Amino acid sequence: MIKKAVIPAAGLGTRFLPATKAQPKEMLPIIDTPAIQYVVQECVDSGIEDILIISGKGKRSLEDHFDKNFELETRLQEKEEEALYTHLKHIENLANIHFIRQKELNGLGDAIYHARFHCGQEPFAVLLGDSLIDSAIPVTQQLLDSYEQYGYTVIAVETVPWENVSRYGIVDGDNLSTRVMQLTRLIEKPSRKQAPSNMAIAGRYILTPQIFKALEKTPRGKGDEIQLTDALQILLKEEGIIATLIEGKRYDIGNKMDFLKTTVEFALKRKEFAGEFEDFLRETINRLDEDRKEH
Ligand code: UTP
Repeated sequence: MIKKAVIPAAGLGTRFLPATKAQPKEMLPIIDTPAIQYVVQECVDSGIEDILIISGKGKRSLEDHFDKNFELETRLQEKEEEALYTHLKHIENLANIHFIRQKELNGLGDAIYHARFHCGQEPFAVLLGDSLIDSAIPVTQQLLDSYEQYGYTVIAVETVPWENVSRYGIVDGDNLSTRVMQLTRLIEKPSRKQAPSNMAIAGRYILTPQIFKALEKTPRGKGDEIQLTDALQILLKEEGIIATLIEGKRYDIGNKMDFLKTTVEFALKRKEFAGEFEDFLRETINRLDEDRKEH
């Protein structure tokens, strides 16, 4: 049974500047909930409650968010704000969360390497802290099911438009079933010409402890960083890796367009906003259409 998860959240978030100058992108709220809380909730919904967050400079608010805020709780109790008080208690007790700091930003592979002592000889889940997936079955649970069936390292993948392959880690392999592939190759941010497929790594993994040995052998790659994809390509020479096509929709909230789309789609799903917000969207589109007709 897999009991531990690692959430890398130390990155600079340059694609979301200036908002990320003084706050972590993982704390950007989707309506009223920081992105990282959705990611932690996905772990918990998949049965994992031991979580290591890879944190870094300027990321203290990540720790504060999952900590007790005595003053706020007392104030809410005094004001008889029962629902908010219960919600804060829920966040505080969500999981058993640990933190380690990545002092130098040497890439995702290096961030994962910081988990070696915490994870020891156990396989573990990895969920990128800036990646939300809306799905009926939590994607980490989908990967755990594949791990149980095949016993190999498992990578979540999604199909992306060919013109965007150079933004992702891309995989190639042989189909074992409609949703599962045995990998033969992984390549980080290939050009469209180099890309062997348009199947992109989707921010969720089940890794075996052998990844730490592979990371030790991994030279700096794209962006002069230690890339997890390159370490997985090294690991592939020694053990099997499978990819599972996710059932769900992924949002990279570290890019501004995806952040906007996530906010709109999540708001439409919230009962307290749906009606009024939908009317607002319709009115806005109608006004845009009319303006276009006039000009
Ligand atoms: P990204 O590739 O989105 O990088 O990282 P980034 O630096 O955070 O963002 P940009 O490109 O500058 O806008 C994917 C995930 O891996 C973490 C990030 O916090 C994010 O959750 N990460 C990345 C680390 O923890 N350490 C690193 O050195 C790099």
